[in-house]
Amino acid sequence: MGHLDAAGVRIRDVRAIVTAPEGLPLVVVKVETTEPGLHGVGAADLVTRPLTVVSAVQDYLQPLLVGRSPYEIEDIRQSLYQSSYFRGGPVLNTALGGVDTALWDILGKVAGMPVHQLLGGRCRRAVPVYTHAAGSCANEVAEAAQACRERGYGYVRCQVTVPGVTTYGAPSGPQAGDGLWDPAAYRRTVPALFEHLRDALGAEVELLHDVHERLPGADAIGLAKDLEPYRLFFLEDPLSPEDLEHFRLLRHHTSTPLAMGELFSTPQEYLPLVRDRLIDFLRIRVAAAGGVSGARRVAALCEFFGVRMAWQGARDVSPVGHAATIALDIATHNFGIQESAEFNDAAQEVFPGCPTVRDGHYWPPDAPGLGIDIDEHAAAQHPAPDPLTVDAWTRLRLPDGTVTRP
Ligand code: CO
Repeated sequence: MGHLDAAGVRIRDVRAIVTAPEGLPLVVVKVETTEPGLHGVGAADLVTRPLTVVSAVQDYLQPLLVGRSPYEIEDIRQSLYQSSYFRGGPVLNTALGGVDTALWDILGKVAGMPVHQLLGGRCRRAVPVYTHAAGSCANEVAEAAQACRERGYGYVRCQVTVPGVTTYGAPSGPQAGDGLWDPAAYRRTVPALFEHLRDALGAEVELLHDVHERLPGADAIGLAKDLEPYRLFFLEDPLSPEDLEHFRLLRHHTSTPLAMGELFSTPQEYLPLVRDRLIDFLRIRVAAAGGVSGARRVAALCEFFGVRMAWQGARDVSPVGHAATIALDIATHNFGIQESAEFNDAAQEVFPGCPTVRDGHYWPPDAPGLGIDIDEHAAAQHPAPDPLTVDAWTRLRLPDGTVTRP
C-alpha cells in the first residue's frame, strides 16, 4: 500500500458496530487512529442485510485501511472502490460510504470545524424536514398530520391503511392477509385520502406520499394524475428501479413532482433520471451514494440539472447517518427537503449528539466533525435482532399468489 503522506497520523483500526436501540439494526463504522482519542464515525446502514456490510467493512476494507493516513480521503475512496474488482452495489457502496463519512468526521475534528464547514459552509440556517403521519382511515391520517403540524412540522408524509392488505407505512388491519398486497385497492384508496387531507388541513401544509414502488407503471401514471388537484410536495418512489424507463411516460403525463432513489446505489441507475430531468428530487441513502464524498458529487451533479436533494432518512438510518445528511443539507444549494426521525431515549443514549427536530427543522451542530459519537457500552445493550425477522415485511404476494415487490 503506497502512502502519499509520508508522516503523521495513521488509521489504527476499523470496525463496524451493529446496534438496535429501536429494534432495527443500525451499522456504524468507527475508524480509530494512532492519535489518542481521535476517531471518526460513519453510517453504513442496510437494514435488511446489515451483517453483509459488517463483513465488507471488517473482512475486506479494514486490512486495506490500517496504516494509511486518514486524511487521504479521496485516494482511499478510489482505491477501496476498485479493490473488489466487482464494484458497487448496495452492500459494497454502503460499506465504503461508512468508512468515507468517518474520515470526514476525523478531518472535521482535526480542523476544529463542523463537516458542513468543510463542504463550503452554510447555505441555510437550518434544515426543513418532513415527518410521517399514518392511520387506518383518512380521518385518522388527518388527525395525525394535524398533530405533526402542531409540533412544528410544515411537511408531512401521509400513508393510509388499505383495507385487507399489508400496507406500507400504515398499520395493517387485523383482517389483512399475511403478506397480501392488492395494487388495485391501493390505487383506489390513495386519491380519496388526499382529497380528504386537503379538505381537512387546508392549502398551506406540504403533503408527501410514498408509493414504495408498489404499482405497475400504468397505475403509477394514473395515480400521479389523480393526485394533481391535491398539489403534493412530491410523490416518492412511484416506480421500482426495474421499471425506470417508465419514468419517461410518467413525467410526460403528470405535473405531480416526482422523487426517487432509496434503492439506488450505482450512479448509472440515476444518471439518466437526472440528465433527462425525469425526477424533481433525488433521495438516495447517503451511505449508498458513497458517504459524504460520494453524496456531495451527486448533489453537485443534480444542481446542474435543477434536481433537488432529499436524502433518505427514515428510522433505518442511524443518528450518525442523519448527522451526515444534515452536514450535506446545510452546505448544499440545491437542497429540497430532509426526511427526519425522532429517535427514542435508548437511541439518544447510544448516540451522544443525536440530531433532534425543533420547529420542523434539524439544526446544524457547532461541534467539530459530525457532532455525534457512538457509546459502545450503551450500543452493546441493544443487540441486533435475528436477521430474518428484519426483512419479513418484504415477503409480499398478490391476491392470486404471485410474488410482488415490497
Ligand atoms: Co420510501
